[in-house]
Amino acid sequence: MSENKAAQQLCEFAKSQRLVEGLTTGHGQPVGDKLNSLTAGPRGPILLQDTTLIDETAHFDRERIPERVVHAKGAGAFGYFEVTHDITKYTKAVVFEKIGKRTPVALRFSTVGGESGSADTARDPRGFAVKFYTEEGTWDLVGNNTPIFFIRDPILFPSFIHTQKRNPVTHLKDANMFWDFITLRPETCHQVSFLFSDRGTPDGYRHMNGYGSHTFKLVNSQGNPVYCKFHFKTDQGIKNLSADRAGQLAGENPDYATEDLYNSIANGNYPSWTLYIQVMTYEEAEKCKFNPFDLTKVWSHAEYPLIPVGRLVLNRNPTNYFAEVEQIAFAPSHMIPGVEPSPDKMLQGRLFSYADTHRHRLGANYLQIPVNCPFKVRNYQRDGPQCVSDNQSGAPNYYPNSFSGPQHHTKYLEASCPVTGDVKRYDSSNEDNFTQVGTFWNKQRLIENMSGHLVNAVDFIQQRAVENFGKCDPEYGRRLKEALDKLKNKQSNSCKKSNL
Ligand code: HEM
Repeated sequence: MSENKAAQQLCEFAKSQRLVEGLTTGHGQPVGDKLNSLTAGPRGPILLQDTTLIDETAHFDRERIPERVVHAKGAGAFGYFEVTHDITKYTKAVVFEKIGKRTPVALRFSTVGGESGSADTARDPRGFAVKFYTEEGTWDLVGNNTPIFFIRDPILFPSFIHTQKRNPVTHLKDANMFWDFITLRPETCHQVSFLFSDRGTPDGYRHMNGYGSHTFKLVNSQGNPVYCKFHFKTDQGIKNLSADRAGQLAGENPDYATEDLYNSIANGNYPSWTLYIQVMTYEEAEKCKFNPFDLTKVWSHAEYPLIPVGRLVLNRNPTNYFAEVEQIAFAPSHMIPGVEPSPDKMLQGRLFSYADTHRHRLGANYLQIPVNCPFKVRNYQRDGPQCVSDNQSGAPNYYPNSFSGPQHHTKYLEASCPVTGDVKRYDSSNEDNFTQVGTFWNKQRLIENMSGHLVNAVDFIQQRAVENFGKCDPEYGRRLKEALDKLKNKQSNSCKKSNL
């Protein structure tokens, strides 16, 4: 009997068996008593042969997987994306194929710096990661609620994130670490100004926008590319929390945003976002006054107007948080034909980092986990830990082959693009860090929020911050200094009083 036939017979036998009713162990053995362990005498000791106890405990001991190194606290939901406007002249991506087309989506919202148990209302950017389950693979748009980011070179990312985490000695969040790095890298001024405005504390996840943030490339069916940015605008309207309210909620209900999202969907109040794109041609990119691939800059809406595309609706909560949210794995490298990376250095760095961390956090076969699994995978990858699919059964495992294995098709080739320039480490620290901030910053609450945090850093760092923000607009620097002086006076007066 061939091996395949034997396996088939075993499966048929298993199927023909009646299913066990009630509780079982991990390997399916019915359990007679789940409340008392097996002991020699009523007072113990416990026997090694209590496989029910050992099975339960050993599994419990392995319940945690590493939390995400960033964006550890989050909430997710499912729904669909529907095309309302035709953008096929820009892209052949199947998700935008025709008006009315619906594609299933998953969306995970998150904070960035805190641990998986941290407060939802922390002052932090919010992650806005969308997974489109399309016929040509999953496409992940792994964005934030801000159109820009702190840095423009990925080599700085691990250090930047360390400054948002805990001090290695005190295990405390550390204003000196944060402001030291921020002020040494003035390209952070734009995003930091956003962060300390009230948009740094959105009122839950439903009342904020999402942005792809990077410049991407769209390619149409003729192979013609344009550059593009993605914007999801909330249909619920923007709502933010004041610093006081955010702080209060952090204590009273640290899961505020998670709860709001879950309850809203459970009550049939489905949140939605309208997707727009901005488009820049290659010629426009050549002439652009600034580097259009610099993630610390926005594209003017007057010059590159928002083009409506469709609507994203969330209408299903996860049925199991761990299975569908903790295990969901987004990666900017998960693209589909019609969407390609631009030269944006940050995006290029991210193309590597995510699938790499997933292989560590979830394992080499993370794409077989149902929430990550594309509709169709046919390739020559095989085996590895936790290979829970049919491992592509008897299909050939090498390429090329003469046995009907899957073939590549040149119609799916990336658009070709010219690249010139000497290979070297170009210093990008001074690529106009201030002009766009100068037009954006003008908000009293920003000064209050920022000074309240900056005052916890040492004097020379405060001074450097005042200088940097003063370069965005002298008034910005002046008002920041004024607010810091006021806070410091208040602090020294209360010290004097307590010394009396
Ligand atoms: C070089 C820059 C960056 C690197 C190396 C990086 C790396 C990472 C890593 C390792 C994770 C954890 C992923 C996981 O364990 O599932 C992550 C999560 C995330 N990152 Fe980044 N990141 C970068 C910049 C950005 C930027 C610019 C954005 C937004 C525009 C962003 C948005 C997100 C989001 C939304 C998540 C959470 C995804 C989820 O919900 O599972 N990151 N990032």
